[in-house]
Parts: sequence; C-alpha cells; structure tokens
Amino acid sequence: MTLLPDVDRILLGPGPSLTSPRVMRAMASPTVSHLDPLMLRLLDDVRARLARVFRAVDGSFAFAVSGTGTSGMETAVSNLVRDGSRAAVVVSGYFGDRLAQMCERYGAAVSRVDVEWGRACDPDALRRHLNANGADVVAMVHAETSTGVCNPVREMAAVARDHGALTIVDAVTSLGGVPLDVGAWGIDACYSCTQKCLGGPSGLAPIVFGPRALEQRVKGRSFYFDLSLLEDYWLRRKYHHTMSSALVCALYESLAIVEEEGLDARWARHERNHRMLVASLAELGLTLLPAEADRLWTLNAVRVPDGVDEPTARKHLLDEFNIEIGAGLGPLAGKIWRVGLMGAGSAPRLVLLLRGAFESALAKQGRHVHA
Ligand SMILES: Cc1ncc(COP(=O)(O)O)c(C=O)c1O
Repeated sequence: MTLLPDVDRILLGPGPSLTSPRVMRAMASPTVSHLDPLMLRLLDDVRARLARVFRAVDGSFAFAVSGTGTSGMETAVSNLVRDGSRAAVVVSGYFGDRLAQMCERYGAAVSRVDVEWGRACDPDALRRHLNANGADVVAMVHAETSTGVCNPVREMAAVARDHGALTIVDAVTSLGGVPLDVGAWGIDACYSCTQKCLGGPSGLAPIVFGPRALEQRVKGRSFYFDLSLLEDYWLRRKYHHTMSSALVCALYESLAIVEEEGLDARWARHERNHRMLVASLAELGLTLLPAEADRLWTLNAVRVPDGVDEPTARKHLLDEFNIEIGAGLGPLAGKIWRVGLMGAGSAPRLVLLLRGAFESALAKQGRHVHA
C-alpha cells in the first residue's frame, strides 16, 4: 500500500499548473551536490535564462531562491526594507495584503493603497498617494491571483520611479504568461515562482534585482534570504545552503521550454486560450469578476451564479472529471471559482474539457444550459 498519488490531476486551479513530461524527466536527473561543477554550470545557465525571461537590464542579478513564491517575496522585502523605511504597498487582493504584512514584519512604516478587490489599481491614485505620503519603496502585485486582475505595472512603476522610490513587483502569476518587461518598465526587484506559468513543480522562486536595488540593498535580518550571501553562493561558489539539484534541473528544463516557444508566442497563447475560455463559459451563462480590460490571461475569476453551491460544484469537477480548480479567498470565498490556464495548462483541449465539466456541474445543481 502506498500513499503516492496515482492519478494525473488536470491542474486548472491557481497553481501548481500541469508539469510537462520533459520537466518531470529533468527532475529525475541524477542528484548532484550544490557545489558540483555540473551543478555550477546549470546555475550559470539558469541565471542567464532568467535574466532573459525577466527581460532584465545588464548589471542585474537574476537567480532562484530555494522556496516557493513567498520566499521570493521575503527575499525582495528583507533586502530592500529596513526599520523605518517608508513602504507604499498596493493592496488589491490577498497577495497585496501578504506583501504589506511582510513589509511590516521587516520594520517598514507601511502605507497601503487599497483598491477594491476585482479592480485594477489606478496609477493616478498611486501618484496621489505618493504625493501625500512619500515612499522609499513601492511594492505591488502584477497578477493578483485572488481576483484575476492584472495591475498596470508599467504605469505604476513609472509613477514610483518619478518619486525616486524603489519598486518591488510580485510576478508570481505573470512571469511567462502575460507581458512583463522588468528592464523596460524600470522595475528594481521582481520575483516569481516555478509552479505557475513557467510550468515546473513548486520549490524555487525566480527573482531579479536590478542595479539600483543591488546598490541600495540593506543588511536584512534574514540569513537564509540574504542577498549578499546568496550572491556568494551563485557567483562566488561559496556554500550557503544545500540547493536542490532536482529542482534546479526542473527549472532549467522549464526555462528551456519557455525560450523554445518564445515569450511573445507564449503570451499570445495565454491570451488566446483565456479568450476562448471566457467565450465558452459565457455559453453557460458564467461571467468573470474583473472588467474585461483588467483581466489576467492566466487566472480567471469566475462568478458563482446565485443558487449554485461553490464547493459542491468544485468537488464535482474533481470527482467526476479529475479537474482541480480553486476556491475564492477572503471576501471572495464562495463567490468565485479560480480557473488557471497557465503554462502547459493553457491549451484549447483543456478549455473544451472544462466547459463540459462546468456544464455537468451546473446541471447537477439543476441549472441546465439547454432547458
Ligand atoms: C500573486 C502571488 N504572490 C505570492 C504567492 C505565494 O506563492 P507560494 O504559494 O508559491 O508561496 C502566490 C501564490 O499563489 C501568488 O499568487
């Protein structure tokens, strides 16, 4: 008797997304130690690939933190925020709130730019906030996974830069799925995860620090996430922690797949399949929470119709179709389903399957599309 999973779930929730067989095979490569020459070659290659995928400027330091997306958040915050730093944090959902909490834990005086859940931040509101409050650091979530909203980070980062503040951007649900250009948008620090649009297992957090952020780093409280110690490992081959070669191999292969497809083509695929999903769900009478212009292509916040029991429908998808989707978080619990079309999961055949599964789940609760 084993407890190892023996079904391939169709992962269409907020993450993890489907892992391709190529990435699974890469993960089964022989274990090498964290300072083996074979590992160091991989790390150099992963660094170069990440710099390209983030579109970082020369002089940036791109690498991967050992840990999930939250460890990327903590690495960005703990190295750029010190006691008394003024941090303006845009909070338009659950993960913006996490970012604000993180800044507070590292001693910042946090001012929140609260945005209604389900709407995108208005860059003019951020400008007014910074005029009134000032900030040393402005932190924001690009793809708010709790609401399915894409914040206009290009414009928001420009506003922050006008005020001379450093920018921290959470790209956990955007890197590799929707347009993001760290260099051209003037972002100082940006982190993501491996298990969403990059199509790997969870466990590493890609991150990039631009030249200004590298220069203005603070001596943080965290040992594990200390930027200078991590540079010592990644650049100067000095032991810091025992990095997992299995996860590095998986990230190497995920990034190879991203680059073979090409970022522009990958973004276009995510947009196409998102639009197909929206049209398919509309045939069932299902609509999305955010306004069309604010929608993410990677995470779809689908409104639960009145009279439909959210968890029962989600369970039906899992039990009858082997499909995982996500529930709403915080104030959106019970009100939305979260459907991720990310990485290998952004595919027309999966949209069709999901449409059929939703039709069946609604019918089970007495809502027939073709009455
Ligand atoms: C926008 C965003 N930020 C941060 C996180 C935290 O990532 P993790 O769960 O990998 O630690 C998530 C997770 O879904 C997220 O969606």
